[in-house]
Amino acid sequence: MTIVELVRLFAEPLETAVVLTDIDLERPGPTVLYVNPAFARMSGYAGSDVVGNSPRLLQGAGTSRELTRLVARTLRAKGRFQGVLENYRKSGEAYLCELDVRMLQAWDGQPLASIAFEREVVRRRGRPSRDGAGRYTPVESDTFTPAILNLQPAIFD
Ligand SMILES: Cc1cc2nc3c(=O)[nH]c(=O)nc-3n(C[C@H](O)[C@H](O)[C@H](O)COP(=O)(O)O)c2cc1C
Repeated sequence: MTIVELVRLFAEPLETAVVLTDIDLERPGPTVLYVNPAFARMSGYAGSDVVGNSPRLLQGAGTSRELTRLVARTLRAKGRFQGVLENYRKSGEAYLCELDVRMLQAWDGQPLASIAFEREVVRRRGRPSRDGAGRYTPVESDTFTPAILNLQPAIFD
């Protein structure tokens, strides 16, 4: 089973958007290998629109260059990026997107792919307390652990 097949199996029924890319963070990479149906519902892009492209196609005028550079820099340094970016749907409409991106690596440390769990940030019911749930700051948290997901190599080709 390939990593794309494995991710497809668990991600297909999820309500959270999943984006799987290769490990190449240098432009024009990374290249999208798979997106799940929840990603298509959120972004308006079908799998055929994004597979083979870079997730940069989600960026637009309001996307912070500082933050997108931080995605690649933090992934290289720590193997994980968490933060909120301004993404754009296929229709051109902007939406705030909470990202949790991780490098996937094999048991022996060999990098295999990157995976992002993405959710649109929507206002929650009620009035959030100061610093409470429902308030998002578009900065990366430095409190996260563990960084890298280790996978048993036996299940891959
Ligand atoms: C799995 C994965 C998902 C990503 N998803 C997004 C995204 O939803 N929006 C975005 O602006 N960038 C996303 N990126 C980041 C861009 O692909 C790119 O790495 C970033 O723009 C930094 O590179 P650059 O400085 O060359 O543009 C994602 C990266 C990876 C590895």
